[in-house]
Amino acid sequence: MAKRALITGVTGQDGSYLSELLLSKGYEVHGIVRRASLFNTDRIDHIYHDPHVAGAKLQLHYGDLTDASALRTILEKVEPDEIYNLGAQSHVKVSFDVPEYTGEAVGMGTLRLLEAMRGYIGRTGKGVRFYQAGSSEMFGAAKPPQSEATPFYPRSPYAVAKVAAHWYGVNYREAYGYFISNGILFNHESPRRGETFVTRKITRAVGRIKSGLQEKLYLGNLDAKRDWGFAGDYVEAMWLMLQQEKPDDYVVATGEAHSVKEFVELAFDYAGLDWQKYVELDPRYLRPTEVDYLLGDPSKSRNALNWQPKTSFKGLVTMMVEHDLELARGEAAMHEAGFSATSRGNASQRLSG
Ligand code: NAP
Ligand code: GDD
Repeated sequence: MAKRALITGVTGQDGSYLSELLLSKGYEVHGIVRRASLFNTDRIDHIYHDPHVAGAKLQLHYGDLTDASALRTILEKVEPDEIYNLGAQSHVKVSFDVPEYTGEAVGMGTLRLLEAMRGYIGRTGKGVRFYQAGSSEMFGAAKPPQSEATPFYPRSPYAVAKVAAHWYGVNYREAYGYFISNGILFNHESPRRGETFVTRKITRAVGRIKSGLQEKLYLGNLDAKRDWGFAGDYVEAMWLMLQQEKPDDYVVATGEAHSVKEFVELAFDYAGLDWQKYVELDPRYLRPTEVDYLLGDPSKSRNALNWQPKTSFKGLVTMMVEHDLELARGEAAMHEAGFSATSRGNASQRLSG
């Protein structure tokens, strides 16, 4: 029998890479999708097959982390062996605008899912393994490098909610003996990254500036440092955590940090552009409380999970810029053919993220 995985946040960056990985390992994958007025499955459309066709291995279910009864119903229907809780309002700056909703989806949402799992295990006695998508944002103002032993010091409503979710996981593990592992993942990016996160905002702008579709890139704090890796590498660590003998908590990172400015320089350079001519500061993108310096110590995941990132910082920037140069060339061609090229392309600058 194929293993069955249930993924919340399946339509997100990580959800799409994790689905690909699990399908390649022969899993039957079930994803929870939010109802939206437009299709929100772009990132997984290439692996989705018509459910009317026999053997479809990726199945989608409507649900939401703010809806406990839907979560219970889905669990009863899917009967998963593994649950990956990736669903979240995951934007740090936006969490200052919608703190209550962020707490509901990220903190309480995790509790709802754990409660649904408790009910399911209580009724069936089945063993279910649970992965919680924790974040380096939980370390916030703690001094780098940060490891599993570093105390949390969250600096945003998002980070506070992730700390709550982390401790719910630890508590359910200790109270009920469940297999729950918390990943503490540092920033990971890809060509599928949402366009209001800084890396993708930069690479989209590089592509569009190069194609003559955009003039300026407005950014906030260029001095913040992050430990950036490739999302495709990081989902492998999630899976490995659930294949261990015992549940545990793991930092997943590259062990190398760079500033936003370094990312900007490298991305513009790759396209043969001088960043100083295009980048301007807009205080809208500053955060009420910033996280200045995240640098992970991945020793534990390297030793215990035998996990290592395969993509370098330069490789990541190159991958993203190449993708977005190509995307912008397509937009420019559409523009020349008389279609509007700006409706999606500069969305990241219209929003305050
Ligand atoms: P993402 O691209 O923003 O995807 C978030 C996913 O959560 C989307 O599928 C989204 O659905 C879904 N979602 C949002 N609100 C929900 C709700 N109320 N109920 C159910 N689903 C909901 O995030 P990501 O980068 O893939 O990150 C995956 C997880 O890892 C998140 O929990 C994030 O906080 C955490 N994390 C990410 C990083 C990183 O650097 N990427 C690092 C550490 C931790 P829609 O598509 O409908 O919006
Ligand atoms: N988004 C954004 N937009 N960030 C900017 C901008 C801008 O215009 N200008 C500068 N920055 C800075 C932010 O202030 C922050 O210090 C850094 O760039 C990275 O911001 P994001 O890319 O938005 O990511 P994040 O680090 O806040 O959060 C991401 O990583 C976390 C893991 O550490 C998200 O994916 C979170 O969900 C994740 O938990």
